[in-house]
Amino acid sequence: MLNKKENYEVAVVGATGAVGRRMLSTLEERNFPVAGLTALASARSAGQTLRYQGRSIEVRQLNENSFKGIDIALFSAGGAVSRQYAPIAVESGCVVIDNSSAWRMEKGVPLIVPEVNPDALGDKPEIIANPNCSTVQMVVALKPIHDRYRIRRVVVSTYQSVSGSGQKAIKELEQQSRAVLDGKPIEKKVYPHQIAFNCLPHIDVFLDNGYSKEEMKMVNETRKILGDESIEISPTTVRVPVFYSHSEAVYVETEQPMTAEEIKKLLSEFPGVRVVDAPGKNEYPLAVEAAGKGEVVVGRIRKDLARENAINFWVVSDNLLKGAALNAVQIAELLIKRVSS
Ligand code: A2P
Repeated sequence: MLNKKENYEVAVVGATGAVGRRMLSTLEERNFPVAGLTALASARSAGQTLRYQGRSIEVRQLNENSFKGIDIALFSAGGAVSRQYAPIAVESGCVVIDNSSAWRMEKGVPLIVPEVNPDALGDKPEIIANPNCSTVQMVVALKPIHDRYRIRRVVVSTYQSVSGSGQKAIKELEQQSRAVLDGKPIEKKVYPHQIAFNCLPHIDVFLDNGYSKEEMKMVNETRKILGDESIEISPTTVRVPVFYSHSEAVYVETEQPMTAEEIKKLLSEFPGVRVVDAPGKNEYPLAVEAAGKGEVVVGRIRKDLARENAINFWVVSDNLLKGAALNAVQIAELLIKRVSS
């Protein structure tokens, strides 16, 4: 349990990774009240240094004693590390905000997007889960629509960047792109197929029902966050040769009829959302423009051609920020606001 303090001891587990590095920069940019910052990773990077507030901090190897004296631990080192170490951190008196999928669907573990379901945090959370990146940006856009018109059905196709698979995948896209342009053979380490100049309808492992685990995360996590098990969700998740930001084409069917203008207004008033929707001027959300920013950008908002109660839109966000590091830090902010009030 977290006690109220002026400043908090914070640990980042997986600090050297694509998300972990953004966690450090987000804590810094948002002036999170950090008393001390502990950067944890595997033995591979112990002893390396990372920059935080203009200082070098040494990366330490994660072990069972890493959480002594830590108040808040942000985890982004994969599901296995979270499964093993989150309970150890809790045992040491630390609150865990976990970016992996390990705890998200566990009963009693809040799955939080602060703009969407802050009240699900509960009184004394021990492990708080950060949703999957493709789910976060979709639920931020769905929430005001659901509240006003009640969503019955969602059909979503994602165009997900390689940074969602970590640093190694960013390198793989770089190296393969160079190799293809130079007419050289490509090397495949992270993905089973060439990712450069290609689209892979395959994210995470495939399940017995024919859907991928990533697709089922979108189904189950969206229902848990919106607190509505009746929403029908039909997802197709695709990895595309983009470095940063996920894009999604979303079709939404509601109980009540609505107009595109109403949806634009509703979305533009929702915290964290920016509507960019002037197709006549070539203005719509773009992955390269969303990268490095914390917003969820929505555009191409248009009524379905046949149904009165259905709409299509395009939503883009930086998967490492709102989809991961920023959302985690916002959860930490919500947490300390709760103990302060
Ligand atoms: P390391 O850099 O030492 O491998 P990414 O998602 O970009 O691949 O990053 C994963 C992060 O998780 C890295 O910081 C990585 O550390 C860390 N990590 C992976 N496995 C472990 C482990 N067994 N113990 C601690 N940290 C780990």
